[in-house]
Amino acid sequence: MQAVLSFDQAPPFAAPFRFFLTAPLFPLLAGLLLLIEGPPALASRWTPAMLALTHLIAVGFMLQAMLGAMIQILPVVAGANLPRPLLVARALHLLLVTGALALAAGFLGLFASAFPLAAVLLGTGVGGFALIAAFSLRGIPATSASIRSFRLALVGLCGLLVLGIMLAGGLSGLWRVPLIDLTRVHVNWALAGWGLALLSAVAYVVVPMFQITPAYPARFTRAFGPALLIAVLLASLAPLAADDVAELLQMPVIVLAAIFCGTTLWLQARSKRARPDATQKFWRLAMLAGLAAALLWAVARIVPPLAAWDGWPLLFGILVLVGGFMSVIIGMLYKIIPFLIWLHLQNRGKGRVIAPNMKAVLAESRMLRHLRLHLGACALLLAAVVWPAGLAHLAGLALMVASGYLFTNLLAAARLYRQHAARVDAVLAEAVHAVAKEGA
Ligand code: HEM
Repeated sequence: MQAVLSFDQAPPFAAPFRFFLTAPLFPLLAGLLLLIEGPPALASRWTPAMLALTHLIAVGFMLQAMLGAMIQILPVVAGANLPRPLLVARALHLLLVTGALALAAGFLGLFASAFPLAAVLLGTGVGGFALIAAFSLRGIPATSASIRSFRLALVGLCGLLVLGIMLAGGLSGLWRVPLIDLTRVHVNWALAGWGLALLSAVAYVVVPMFQITPAYPARFTRAFGPALLIAVLLASLAPLAADDVAELLQMPVIVLAAIFCGTTLWLQARSKRARPDATQKFWRLAMLAGLAAALLWAVARIVPPLAAWDGWPLLFGILVLVGGFMSVIIGMLYKIIPFLIWLHLQNRGKGRVIAPNMKAVLAESRMLRHLRLHLGACALLLAAVVWPAGLAHLAGLALMVASGYLFTNLLAAARLYRQHAARVDAVLAEAVHAVAKEGA
């Protein structure tokens, strides 16, 4: 059943847009870090530069864009109205941006209090948002799989945050924690409990709607969320088990992620759209990257030399974070932003001033050029893991160029919005003035 969207509940444009606009600056910064640090950064998943890079992308881009999207989607899709959305957005945005920078500074050891500062900023911001969102969902009947998955994603968000803060406290010596084991649990809650749960909640609505595919099978949408939560809880037990059992406990999460990617690709193949647009292509890239990551994980189970190689977790991380989540988020931004700009300008024009067509807001040709740059950056990052001496700097530069191009696209859309809004206000003011003059 197609979800009913209530756009009259949409928050002010600036509430979600501030997150979307600053998110690309973080992978740009991550690219700069790789350009500066070079091959040593890629020596292992645990190098300070690699952990900082991971979180500039995971918190600075992924978490930021997804929380911005939730501010937009919760009222429109679930009817869950956030109190004072602009105030909440402003506070959360400030805490999230400064928290992500402090976390990266903590991993790079830039100043002693960086980790505690990051824990306070991200704890207050992300924790505060999770509470407000949970309250806004209170009393909303779980009539759709999306609403149920939004709730699960919020549980995942709380899980990743508590574990992340425990790890940050452990790394700054505030308390003692089993770092490696807890990191593995943190990664499961972050990528699956939060990332995949939220992606599925949104996908059930936007894939059929924007990509004109059949709906996700009802049995799938009913079972996927609860199965994912159980799988993440199972994976959280892995630190307590022997290695071979720990791997078995990790498998359900990987299998469910592969099933989600495969199901989405299957639906995309049945799209009624004559020609796939940029958003469809970004989603396809993301699902293929997700499948490749699952395959890599499986092969590393059966090929010991691969499992012993420090590079495979880096390949896995790049496929999941850059190839997977970044691609699907970019695909969504290229659909949401032109639509939101059209919607808000149409409402502002009150039928007197027609809003620009969505294609005029952001040209498809610019989106496709970005797709090529993003694909190039993904490929270079993967190749740099295999040949860091030759490609690490270039991969960093490619990530900077691709993210910088996304930023210029969003900046151009913001400029168009501001210029058209000013024109609308002038026309409406003129009309009011004319009426007042006639009345005088
Ligand atoms: C919001 C607050 C967060 C904090 C405070 C935080 C903190 C940390 C810390 C301290 C580590 C451990 C590094 C080590 O053991 O040396 C870590 C690892 C990791 N975190 Fe986070 N994190 C946060 C959010 C996220 C998010 C949102 C994601 C992904 C969506 C994420 C993904 C990861 C990954 C993949 C690792 C493992 C890195 C590796 O093993 O290569 N984190 N995090």
